[in-house]
Amino acid sequence: MKLISKYFGGYRLVITVIVLLIYFGSCMYDTKNSIKVEKHLFGANDNYIGSNSCFTCHEKIYESYAKTTHYKTSEWMKNSAFKDELYKSDSVVYNDNLYVKVHEKNGGIYQSAYSNGLLAATHRLDMVIGSGKKGQTFLFTNDTKFYQLPLSWAIGAHRWINSPGYPSDKVMFNRMVYVKCFECHATYAEEKLNDTGEALFDTSQMVLSISCETCHGPGKQHVHYHQENKADQKGKYIINTQVLSRQQKLDACASCHSGLRENIKTAFSFLPGNKLDDFFKPAYHKDSTAQLDVHGNQYALLTASKCFKQSMVLNCSSCHNVHQQETDSKQLFAQRCMNCHNDNSHNLCTEKHTDKLTMINNCIDCHMPMQGSGQINFNSANKRETKYQLIRTHLIGIYKDKVKLN
Ligand code: HEC
Ligand code: HEC
Ligand code: HEC
Ligand code: HEC
Ligand code: HEC
Ligand code: HEC
Ligand code: HEC
Repeated sequence: MKLISKYFGGYRLVITVIVLLIYFGSCMYDTKNSIKVEKHLFGANDNYIGSNSCFTCHEKIYESYAKTTHYKTSEWMKNSAFKDELYKSDSVVYNDNLYVKVHEKNGGIYQSAYSNGLLAATHRLDMVIGSGKKGQTFLFTNDTKFYQLPLSWAIGAHRWINSPGYPSDKVMFNRMVYVKCFECHATYAEEKLNDTGEALFDTSQMVLSISCETCHGPGKQHVHYHQENKADQKGKYIINTQVLSRQQKLDACASCHSGLRENIKTAFSFLPGNKLDDFFKPAYHKDSTAQLDVHGNQYALLTASKCFKQSMVLNCSSCHNVHQQETDSKQLFAQRCMNCHNDNSHNLCTEKHTDKLTMINNCIDCHMPMQGSGQINFNSANKRETKYQLIRTHLIGIYKDKVKLN
């Protein structure tokens, strides 16, 4: 208990002033071209123009992409569709003397810690990380520094939990967020470290969500060219992801889906077509499947699979259309397996015990079963249990004893 009061004692000073976050609207209207452009995008690099400007000519892709988890992976709370009912009258009890309450105040949502019945610290949820497929974590900011709030929302359990990695006997509001989170969960952020190693951001330079240009590269010249040359139906001045080599295609996704790797250059300077190993130190144990963690390392797992090794073409787009939200569509994925595993290619499933319908509608529960991740796990406060988040393994194979159809 002493530790906690000491902690909060120091903290009270810091939180007396709650700086109201004023989001410097990063959009302005470019009347000349009648399209929305995002100012200061990518710092000094003004070759980027923002996803909104793709809408006029790629309306269908834009609208379906806007429903994906990539698109929704980070957002300012004031713009977010975060549901009211998720936070109403909810609290997490740490012990008899300590709890955190989630509540509404002045139109914002707050997490407030109470120690021995007294308010010890309170912070507003300013930014949400995570689309809400598995879980969402929240950050507060004084407009320069970002911190992760103590409670995260677990979708499956439908309740607030202790944020991943946080202790279950202490409430923390001091876990600083560095640029790494934004490298995979946003389009752009600029970090400067101060003398004490703290990360400072300029929020006017931040571009949240994963944008079209994350995967297709800067689009300003492309947009301007096609506005001026309406008759040209061949895409110019944009990265055509389809003509990249297999390794380039894989690298474009692996920039965020090969786990946490040490940077050589900033991840934001990576463009599809670049060689990933020039930007990140190679991940070790690439082929040793025992060492691989299923969180975020779909690349290493996939490339260790027989499907990958014995096919010349298999890449992420063989199974995923990233412009569409396709989660939980087992039948659709089964069809993508059967593009290669069909009567003609003779490498059909040799399992004969289940009826045919089940077999053709569901390959993945048997060959890519859900497995517990060692990295996204939730310590639920007060109950000292660790719940592992289930992730679909990308090590495609035969898992005889793990088969569970659902
Ligand atoms: C003024 C119209 C226009 C705008 C705005 C526009 N595009 Fe295009 N884009 C085209 C045309 C025309 C093509 C060629 C036909 C096609 O593939 O749809 C194309 C093709 C593409 C291709 C395929 C490239 C290829 O070689 O086939 C990509 C990728 C692309 N655009 C991305 C974008 C992105 C990202 C944006 C927003 C930054 C954008 N476009 C905005 C007109 C536009
Ligand atoms: C190397 C890239 C990478 C980094 C760095 C990274 N993440 Fe993630 N994160 C991912 C990927 C990929 C997923 C999706 C995993 C999946 O679905 O299997 C994910 C999932 C999540 C989710 C769950 C999303 C949902 O809606 O289900 C949260 C929350 C999250 N990350 C928060 C963070 C935070 C906070 C940080 C910084 C401390 C961070 N991530 C750093 C790549 C990354
Ligand atoms: C996560 C990465 C990613 C994001 C984000 C993304 N794309 Fe794509 N896009 C791809 C890939 C990969 C392909 C090639 C698919 C294939 O090989 O069949 C592609 C293909 C395309 C094409 C040409 C083929 C077609 O389907 O017409 C266009 C145009 C395009 N994207 C536009 C967009 C626009 C506009 C956005 C934003 C609204 C966007 N993309 C967001 C990865 C992405
Ligand atoms: C800038 C980083 C980044 C890039 C590049 C990227 N992803 Fe992701 N991807 C993420 C993050 C972060 C998530 C988790 C989003 C969430 O739920 O909040 C994710 C989620 C996914 C999911 C799960 C979607 C769902 O709803 O179940 C798939 C599938 C996926 N990515 C495939 C791809 C493919 C294929 C590519 C390459 C064409 C790619 N990603 C490129 C960061 C990235
Ligand atoms: C681009 C083609 C391609 C796609 C798509 C594909 N595979 Fe394969 N797969 C192969 C090849 C080639 C082999 C190796 C030859 C064989 O065993 O038939 C293979 C092997 C396998 C094996 C045997 C693995 C082992 O360790 O013995 C299984 C199981 C399998 N695939 C399941 C799937 C499932 C499930 C999907 C869809 C989620 C899928 N494959 C998608 C090409 C593909
Ligand atoms: C052989 C088919 C296949 C290939 C190739 C493939 N995936 Fe997947 N992926 C799947 C299936 C099936 C799922 C489960 C979808 C679901 O349950 O909704 C999935 C799910 C995911 C998820 C969400 C994982 C989770 O449990 O939440 C991510 C992220 C992802 N894939 C990324 C990638 C990336 C990146 C690549 C390329 C390195 C890739 N995938 C290649 C079939 C494939
Ligand atoms: C009920 C679970 C189950 C389902 C559903 C299932 N499989 Fe299998 N599959 C197995 C098992 C078990 C084996 C190994 C059989 C053996 O070794 O005798 C296998 C073997 C395979 C093999 C390897 C064949 C070889 O030559 O070694 C491939 C390829 C395969 N399955 C593909 C698929 C595809 C594609 C689908 C969906 C259309 C599918 N499976 C659905 C359980 C399943």
